[in-house]
Amino acid sequence: MSARENQDAREVTAKIAEGYDLVPYNPNGTGSPGLDPSHLFGVAALYGEFPGRGDIDVLDLGCGGGGQILRAAAQTTGRLVGLDISGAACAEAAGRCAALGSRCKILHADLLDLDVASIGTFDLIYLVGVYYVVPAAVQKLLVDAIAACLSPGGVLMISYYSSPIWRSIDALRLSIHGAIDLTAPPAERIRAARRHVESIVENGKSDISAQITTHALTCDEPTFFHEMLGPVLAPVSTVALEETLGAAGIHFLNWIFPGPFAQVATPLARAQGADRMAGGGYHYAVFAKNAGVGGADASWNNVQWQTRLRRAGASQFGLAVCADPASGQGLEVANSATGRVLDMLAAGPRPWPWVYEEMAKQPSGTAYATAVKRDFLTLWQQGVVTPLWAV
Ligand SMILES: C[S@@+](CC[C@H](N)C(=O)[O-])C[C@H]1O[C@@H](n2cnc3c(N)ncnc32)[C@H](O)[C@@H]1O
Repeated sequence: MSARENQDAREVTAKIAEGYDLVPYNPNGTGSPGLDPSHLFGVAALYGEFPGRGDIDVLDLGCGGGGQILRAAAQTTGRLVGLDISGAACAEAAGRCAALGSRCKILHADLLDLDVASIGTFDLIYLVGVYYVVPAAVQKLLVDAIAACLSPGGVLMISYYSSPIWRSIDALRLSIHGAIDLTAPPAERIRAARRHVESIVENGKSDISAQITTHALTCDEPTFFHEMLGPVLAPVSTVALEETLGAAGIHFLNWIFPGPFAQVATPLARAQGADRMAGGGYHYAVFAKNAGVGGADASWNNVQWQTRLRRAGASQFGLAVCADPASGQGLEVANSATGRVLDMLAAGPRPWPWVYEEMAKQPSGTAYATAVKRDFLTLWQQGVVTPLWAV
């Protein structure tokens, strides 16, 4: 990056830091169970990627108040590092994570100054709510940093707005920037910006769709402030991420809750499917280093699989029917090998190699195992087979 580009980027990141100091994002946030290591490595396991340890090291870039680090800490005995440009966010995160002791470090720094050589490597990197609010120079640096810091088999969790909806949100943001005083105190800025969005809704003549103005008017105040009044809202698509990160061997696996493109074989085709399916919206994507390269079945490793389904009889066509006793909902299981595995999992969680071994004992063994693996993707999508993490 040239000195000029660096200086321009720093002016923007300083504004971003000021914004997050003035209006903390999600203070006391508790993180999300959907972003827990158990869940993310469960997705990775479906594609044959998994470090297979309970002491994974975790890096949270733009960690905010540290909620996600606190959640991840409960699932690993490894190292935890959070980094954020906002002094207020770092103070909150450091206070909340103090009980984790020396295995957790909160770094107050601009991503522009991230020293990849000294920070080390990590099995899981979070980039939640960050990539699309930073300037292009920081995005580029982030890709390089992730390429350097993600261990083989490691997982990257990145959140973003899919491109079509971004275009409209950015149009609204720019229209607000042209209409209000961006130097007024935050509360006044927020009031004026909301009035501006309301006036767009009232006169109804704008290209900015109702979906976007409703999103702006109903989201919480900090989100409104940082998205609508911040200096950057950058476009991201899954395909663009796959192309940039893919060059470093980091490939798209799926969303955190596998999408309908789950069984597509190549990362690029899945990314294309994800962008087509997105239809506008906010997404959490799971990427992994070397995904699809070392995908032997045996590398499904130690993720235990569990199910709430119990055998509940047979359909009129003689197919096994399994039902969830909690909801009473049932489904037909066409593949008898999958039915057998579900019966076995009903007795308690088991790792994939065990499932694989059991299948291998059957006639056509490994062919059955492949079919069961494919069925797991569908059953996972439906939420009736889920991964379980043992530290
Ligand atoms: C929307 S918040 C998300 C916080 C947290 N990841 C979460 O999900 O609650 C974005 C965070 O990115 C941080 N951030 C933005 N630009 C940054 C930069 N250049 N260097 C470090 N942190 C940055 C902000 O300070 C803010 O805490």
